[in-house]
Amino acid sequence: MEAGSALDPTPLKGFKDFYQYAGTTRVISGRNLLESTGFEFQKEGARRVFVVTDAVIRGTGLVERVEAGVVDGGLELAGVFDDVPQDSSTEVCDRCAATAKEAGADSFLAVGGGSVMDTAKVADAVFTHGGDARDQEGFYLMPRDDDGMGRPLEIAPLACIPTTAGTGSEVSMAAVIKVPDENVKIEIADFPLFPRLAILDPETTRTLPASVAAATGMDAMTHAIEGYVSVDWSPHQDARSLQALRMIRDNLERAVQRGEDDEEARGNMLIAANLAITIALGSVHAMSHPAGAHFGVPHGVANAIHLPHVIRHNAQGAPEIADRYRDVGEIFDVSGPEIGDALADHISGLTERLGLPTRLSQVGVPEDGIPALVEGAMGDGTTLLNPREMSEQDYAELYRRAL
Ligand SMILES: [Fe+2]
Repeated sequence: MEAGSALDPTPLKGFKDFYQYAGTTRVISGRNLLESTGFEFQKEGARRVFVVTDAVIRGTGLVERVEAGVVDGGLELAGVFDDVPQDSSTEVCDRCAATAKEAGADSFLAVGGGSVMDTAKVADAVFTHGGDARDQEGFYLMPRDDDGMGRPLEIAPLACIPTTAGTGSEVSMAAVIKVPDENVKIEIADFPLFPRLAILDPETTRTLPASVAAATGMDAMTHAIEGYVSVDWSPHQDARSLQALRMIRDNLERAVQRGEDDEEARGNMLIAANLAITIALGSVHAMSHPAGAHFGVPHGVANAIHLPHVIRHNAQGAPEIADRYRDVGEIFDVSGPEIGDALADHISGLTERLGLPTRLSQVGVPEDGIPALVEGAMGDGTTLLNPREMSEQDYAELYRRAL
């Protein structure tokens, strides 16, 4: 059941040998939706809601408004966990699950960015099935009926209200969590992790700092581009990726530069991030996960730094790969015989205009950190989905170029 292989001469076109596609989250998008949180979440089976967030979001007053919306809809508020750090860990997920249990909750509501939403997903799995967060690692390994052969068992109802426009975790079945003692990030993905409800309301990103809007927006950009060139591509995801790229082209710089004054751009970026997300990624994510785990480089910043280097490298791998980048380039009005270089230059220029760092040395990665990063990238699951086969030497070279 190989879903395409890097050795296949035409892995990126033709009739795909095999793929599956699912997107089971009910998405509601629009203005003034926070007050309807309870009304909407009740339809997904929630009664006693446990809110997962972080201290910064709580400080903005957003959580209070969501809580009021929960109670207005006739639901009970079981408790609030606001202790999620920027790079959440298995330990935090376990603590979150235990607190929800003690509070007698029956459902989870995440209000925050990727770290908060991923914490809520993993905590919900631990809350529902027991064990601890470390045990949840893996793809399609959650408990199933019929001795593991049947339908996956549902977890407690989960709703997500993203407060950044980037991760797309609110409509994905994956979570990425750090294991503190091992300096690695583990990935957990299975159908029950699709949140039942995602609420997209531009009010949630009104006070987002420009630097965070820029970094998370580049994460969405990376999802759209990597998803489109991944060996795990699919026509379903292609449609989403290309529309996400159009919306990012038209809204990302506006949302970053005008922030609070541009509700339309902020709302459209929330939708773009939603469209862009996929678990079919590639070497940009493979390189960024260890950069986060070892040196705390924020995920979106790491992606923005790595993306142009991976594009250049991949585009030289095969004409079919370059053709895929050509489709992406068309959206940005970028073309030329060396499409990898042209597109990479365009992305670097955008990253600079957004005010983000463009080199690893600017964000605390030392040259002698490269071997550990290479090891992490080689061991990352997304390496297998990159359209060009990657070696240790390739990664070492790409990290050196990014330094
Ligand atoms: Fe990402």
